[in-house]
Amino acid sequence: MNKNLLNRLPMPEGMSKSEIIQVLLSEEYGFLPGPPEKVSAKEESAEEQFCAGKAVLKKLLLTCRAEYGDFTFPVYFIYPTKREKPVPCFVHINFRDLIPDRYLPIEEIIDSGYAVLYFCYQDVTSDDGDFTNGLAGLIYPEGKRTKTQCGKIGLWAWAAGRVMDHAMTVPILNHGKISIVGHSRLGKTALLAGALDERFYCAFSNDSGCSGAAISREKRGETIQRIFQVFPYWFCENYGKYAENVEELPFDQHFLLAANAPHRVYVASASEDSWADPEHEYLSCVAADQYYKSCGLKGFVHPDRDPVPGDFFGEGEIGYHLRAGTHYLSREDWQRYIQYLNLADGN
Ligand code: GCU
Repeated sequence: MNKNLLNRLPMPEGMSKSEIIQVLLSEEYGFLPGPPEKVSAKEESAEEQFCAGKAVLKKLLLTCRAEYGDFTFPVYFIYPTKREKPVPCFVHINFRDLIPDRYLPIEEIIDSGYAVLYFCYQDVTSDDGDFTNGLAGLIYPEGKRTKTQCGKIGLWAWAAGRVMDHAMTVPILNHGKISIVGHSRLGKTALLAGALDERFYCAFSNDSGCSGAAISREKRGETIQRIFQVFPYWFCENYGKYAENVEELPFDQHFLLAANAPHRVYVASASEDSWADPEHEYLSCVAADQYYKSCGLKGFVHPDRDPVPGDFFGEGEIGYHLRAGTHYLSREDWQRYIQYLNLADGN
């Protein structure tokens, strides 16, 4: 572990949660639209015998009523047929609207007693520099943003919050155990959604890398310069000023983990994912530990050594694992998430 780097990072201790969020929004992700006045769900279809009858699969249309207009997007709800009590749930932001999907081993998740609320990010707004479609089109007249209005990550995170609004109205869900999961660019999104919405029990980021969990200073693989050159529309325009000046950042990505306190946050890394940089994802957990501790929490419980593939550190509010292999959201990652949640429940 790069202890020299750790020792010279800006630290969030002494800052309030809202001050941490303020700096992340004004300098990196941009400010999100306000919450809608009302979210309502309409059932489009239902499959009662999904997964050999072990689950119900429903397609819902979620409509968000707000001063800037109505916005509707599809959400899939899959829940176990047999339940003794309200079930915990994952809100999963995915790349596709397929079920099953290679990033969502749904039968196994159902067998573990969890429900899933699932949406495809591009049903919210496209993954490109066009700010005239979907939610972006409602918020940004003529597709133009100011320097600190949010980019696409902020808009996808906003949608995750709306799914949470809906989840809170569903009686079969355990409202205290609703977590958010995303992979890669959607792992960055999950961390932001978790930071902005304390109702999420845990934010799970999978291989989120640059501008997600990984520390930006001295980063290997993708850098702010590169991400802002290729995907400037994920962030607010203001972030561009750090493209060649990473040392000028008044924060680093452990602030994003810290902003998830007091609820849980989880960083999943893959050993061969050098573009995301697993070392710097781990460093971020170590750096955020102090903030969690300053809130009277356990923080990141880990041994005093670098992680090796197969490691799982699940004792604290910051959870972590290092999976062998490449950039992917695999069933092994999901198994760890469920193991972590079960451990937190004392099972
Ligand atoms: C690119 C990008 C990453 C991102 C990834 C993904 O590789 O550079 O920052 O995490 O896409 O979302 O798959």
